[in-house]
Amino acid sequence: MVIAHRGASYYAPENTMASFRLAHSMQADMIELDVLLTKDGVPVVFHDTDVRKLTNGNGPVSDFRFTELQKLDAGSRFSKTFEGEKIPALEEVLEWLPDEMLLNIEIKPEAVSETGKNGIEQKVIQLVDAENLMERVLLSSFSYIAVKRFKEIHSKLRTGLLYEKSQSAGKTPSVLMEEYRADFFHCSSREMSRNWQRQLLDKQLPFMIYTINRKRSMKNWIHKGAKGLFTDKPDLLREVYSETSEI
Ligand code: G3P
Ligand code: CA
Repeated sequence: MVIAHRGASYYAPENTMASFRLAHSMQADMIELDVLLTKDGVPVVFHDTDVRKLTNGNGPVSDFRFTELQKLDAGSRFSKTFEGEKIPALEEVLEWLPDEMLLNIEIKPEAVSETGKNGIEQKVIQLVDAENLMERVLLSSFSYIAVKRFKEIHSKLRTGLLYEKSQSAGKTPSVLMEEYRADFFHCSSREMSRNWQRQLLDKQLPFMIYTINRKRSMKNWIHKGAKGLFTDKPDLLREVYSETSEI
């Protein structure tokens, strides 16, 4: 599966509509994006806790109201061509999502509250449900408590556990998946050991690897049985999959 990491983010500013539209044109199967909450509780698509590096603004996302955030330019830092790109509301992406595409919504741990009451998990699931996208969305997080909450809120939602060592207490991926009721295991290529890989394949538990931008590595992970690969270059991964299935 071709998963466009933050959109086609090698070619366009990450987590923007321009990047998502490009990923669609490059035949990505799924778009991965990151979600945080604004000061007034709106789920927005942005990776960093602070807007400084990727926009013309300064300060934490959680200090901006949604209307204030919308005034920032999220395109120029990438290239002048994308001047005026905005930080999208998650709702905008859900409304746009083309019928043939899947969406991986990563909830950033910074936005996850201790109690979870009326928290980001609930808000995101309500938006997904309102757009009738429950079957085309995968919710994932590095926050294990959030992963657990997804299923508690809606047992039919598909979920992905992003491996985070400090929360794992030395447990293997299959044990963690069972404990947090996750359907997919996600980790970086550096983290995935042969042992984990064997265990996951033996138990027929699907795993996905981030972030793979080189052809050789793409071929390698496809060969090793990864269900999906996160990439900033969905066009290249699509090409590799076509070549692979021709063999
Ligand atoms: O979901 C996979 C990957 O996006 C996790 O890392 O930091 O790019 O959000 P990051
Ligand atoms: Ca992410």
